[in-house]
Amino acid sequence: MKHLLSLKDLTQEEILDIIDLAIKLKKDNKEGRTHHYLKGKTLGMIFSKSSTRTRVSFEVGMYQLGGYALFLSQNDIQIGRGETIEDTAKVLSRYLDGIMIRTFKQSDVEELARFGSIPVINGLTDDEHPCQVLADLQTIYEIKGTLKGLKFAYVGDGNNMAHSLLHGCAITGMNIAVATPKGYECGQKFIDEAVEIAKKSGSVITITNDAIEAVRDADVVYTDTWASMGQEDEKEERKRIFMPYQVNNELFSYSKKDAIFMHCLPAYRGSEVTSDVIDGEQSVVFDEAENRLHVQKAVMVRLMGNGLLVNN
Ligand code: CP
Ligand code: NVA
Repeated sequence: MKHLLSLKDLTQEEILDIIDLAIKLKKDNKEGRTHHYLKGKTLGMIFSKSSTRTRVSFEVGMYQLGGYALFLSQNDIQIGRGETIEDTAKVLSRYLDGIMIRTFKQSDVEELARFGSIPVINGLTDDEHPCQVLADLQTIYEIKGTLKGLKFAYVGDGNNMAHSLLHGCAITGMNIAVATPKGYECGQKFIDEAVEIAKKSGSVITITNDAIEAVRDADVVYTDTWASMGQEDEKEERKRIFMPYQVNNELFSYSKKDAIFMHCLPAYRGSEVTSDVIDGEQSVVFDEAENRLHVQKAVMVRLMGNGLLVNN
């Protein structure tokens, strides 16, 4: 693994290894053991969109690993004034040990990786959100003790989250059912990729417009905002179209008795989810948010570390 641009580039073994390491780092952290695996290393964090979790978890993660993280807002660096990604990649590679980038176009993240000489981590694009899904997979694994064979239901917009969840479930052998309104389906490219990957893992992939069909007997029910960053103008129109896909007690009741509710956050109560579900006992949304820290530390150790897992 040289970069984390898309989850589809990872093997099942690599994902399980990252989850294992994340669980170990989490335990060390909670028991007060420091692990400065990235001592003296620096991560640049380029943000062209807002963030609470991604920014804070990467910054704290680097600190806990003995390294340093720089916040680089698009408005403050020369990319915002038209400097090319190619030049930016070449320059930043002379200073930094890794780059995390949150932006609009997936191709910009790929370009940064192509022209730079240091690892690049995708912190969300319009198309994918691999770091979030790694944290989600860790969370499911911790609670359910397995991934393979579970039924995962995603209900709502066929967006970046849905795409990376398709990849993540297909790679790890979870069965996934995605229910979206007509016209808001996942990109065909991502469905095709997941179907191809699933041939190896045995994961069953269901694409539907029927929310109840997706949620029926699911072990995990997941949703995300109906209007992603950059779609603010469509918010009201989407709210009308998406209402039948709201995860409320009635829809959630079709899942298994011990199903968990997940959401990458930020959440909009009363839209994609009701407060009785997201604030209810079966919701694990804050465990997911916490695991961003642990799993991204594992990713950074694997990408930027020298392979030595010694406490110093
Ligand atoms: N889930 C997530 O990526 O949150 P932020 O937008 O706050 O980083
Ligand atoms: N789909 C959302 C995810 C936020 C973490 C967005 O792109 O805004």
